[in-house]
Amino acid sequence: MDYFKKIIKYAIPYKKYGYLNILFNILYALFSTLSFLVLMPLLQVIFNPEKAITITSKPVYQGIGKVMAYFKESMGYYIHQVAGEDKSKALMIVIALVIFTFFFKNIFNYLAMYFITFLRNGVLKDVRNDLYKKVVELPISYFSEKRKGDIMARIGTDVLEIQHSFLSILEMVIREPLTIIFTIVAMLMISLKLTIFVFIFIPISGFLISLVGKNLKKKSDRVQKEQGFFLSLIEETLGGLKIIKAFNAENTFTNKFKESTSRFFKFSNALLNRTNLASPTSEFLGITVIAILLYYGGNLVLIEKSLDGEDFIAYMGLAYNILTPAKAISKASYRVKKGNAAAERVLEILETDNPLKDVENAVELEAFNEQINFKNISFKYEDDYVLENFNLTVPKGKTVALVGQSGSGKSTLANLITRFYDVNKGEITIDNHNIKKVTKKSLRNLLGIVTQDAVLFHDSIASNIAFGKNASKEEIINAAKIANAHDFIVDLPNGYDTNIGDSGNKLSGGQKQRISIARAVLKNPPIMILDEATSALDTESEKAVQIALEKMMENRTSIVIAHRLSTIQKADKIIVMQKGKIVEQGNHKELIAKNGVYYNLVNMQSLEG
Ligand SMILES: Nc1ncnc2c1ncn2[C@@H]1O[C@H](COP(=O)(O)OP(=O)(O)OP(=O)(O)O)[C@@H](O)[C@H]1O
Ligand SMILES: [Mg+2]
Repeated sequence: MDYFKKIIKYAIPYKKYGYLNILFNILYALFSTLSFLVLMPLLQVIFNPEKAITITSKPVYQGIGKVMAYFKESMGYYIHQVAGEDKSKALMIVIALVIFTFFFKNIFNYLAMYFITFLRNGVLKDVRNDLYKKVVELPISYFSEKRKGDIMARIGTDVLEIQHSFLSILEMVIREPLTIIFTIVAMLMISLKLTIFVFIFIPISGFLISLVGKNLKKKSDRVQKEQGFFLSLIEETLGGLKIIKAFNAENTFTNKFKESTSRFFKFSNALLNRTNLASPTSEFLGITVIAILLYYGGNLVLIEKSLDGEDFIAYMGLAYNILTPAKAISKASYRVKKGNAAAERVLEILETDNPLKDVENAVELEAFNEQINFKNISFKYEDDYVLENFNLTVPKGKTVALVGQSGSGKSTLANLITRFYDVNKGEITIDNHNIKKVTKKSLRNLLGIVTQDAVLFHDSIASNIAFGKNASKEEIINAAKIANAHDFIVDLPNGYDTNIGDSGNKLSGGQKQRISIARAVLKNPPIMILDEATSALDTESEKAVQIALEKMMENRTSIVIAHRLSTIQKADKIIVMQKGKIVEQGNHKELIAKNGVYYNLVNMQSLEG
């Protein structure tokens, strides 16, 4: 119920449609009951025409107990007024009346559904938007533990399930109970005795139906989770297709996928078969009640003669009319359970606390003036510290290079200054502002970042460089020139408008890097963070990328994470790292003279080259 309440908040902006839906549902319920009541004069005209059309005096209302007789007599009176003693004309009138009520019943039904559609799809839209916004806001760390496909399933199918199950209840909340109430009132008016009889069976049926709905949430949850799993698998497969093929791992992956779809098959069979049980169960229970009614009511007509034949038929029609909403209500309780499972998964994301929120009164960093300071920081992703008591100062306008073995924590430093993660101990300051107390937006405004793996999007080259910035064609070309990318771009079939495919797959590794450098150049931030790709480029592309890097570092404060040591010989300071600690620092000359770790690294690389 809790989930339902939280989801229902999303309907508030659309409450206007809710009200309209309620209005038309009331009319619908009314007309659906009426449509059975008008059968009574029809049947009377057919079976008992003498009585039906010879009422010449206006009947008198004699209290609620005889309201049905009054209704029938009034109908008879009005029919007589119009048709006189003409039976076939009388028949036409009552048929027209039946058509009329059914017509309006269906019109109102459609209108009710028409308006609720806006509410349902509106909620769907807003929940999805909120989910997406949340996904974009949540820190990187949230996603290292989550499968992408699972998130996709939550935004896709779980939200849809909510729309299907929860929101379809909304439209029933009014319609079905009202239909039942109106119908029961009409039934009471026809025969009190019979209706009391019906009431005995309702709780029994309700209990039987609730038995069927057991475990439904758990079953539904399993299905949704499996869906998330195989979406993840598809996502990973598409991303890693090259490797899968190269390593002949198609079968392994196909089997993994088959296992997942088999589980899905099993789980969703169980779920669907259980859900499908709802309607036959309630229908059969219903018809059983009706059979008993037929026996009891038939006796009232034939033997006791306390009930007219046509009233009894209309009554049975009404009793059957209760079945549909009763079925719908029993189905609804299943839907709530299924919806709960989906809502739980959706709300889990929506309600995740963002640990990297801006603090209250966070400072807006306007510009970068003095220096960046890593003050005795320690950091761990999980259990072991990746960086320990790390200190570093980067003065404005200088280039600091980080080198060291793989896994020594270089990229981690880039993750910390950009606040993808927060330090566990110590602090990082920019111009003496602790970056934890600065708005993330203003902090990242000062930073340009080129990540170790070039991240590009399925879009044109120009959009990938401009990337959300409103840049002119000239600015884009300029940035591409600085990034040493202009020449290869103009050689592409559509130049800057060439679509580069999923994650830029139509480009070479070095080309991708230069596009991502151009993107950082265009942003033109005072601080650049370059995480040079490890992938060994051929000498020519390496040179191209290196020139791009050098050009972009000019007149900027840069932190360069370098794997090719040739890139950083001109750096003002080189930091040599080992296992999260600094082991040497100085400029190229000093470090070579030291004849230590750096010297060995350089030697090793020149041997390779
Ligand atoms: N998201 C993460 N979750 C847990 N551990 C991580 C995560 N990212 C990195 N690590 C660990 O942190 C350590 C430092 O990683 P980092 O990426 O900073 O190394 P690096 O110096 O950039 O290495 P390379 O030269 O290979 O790029 C590694 O031992 C790695 O296993
Ligand atoms: Mg790295």
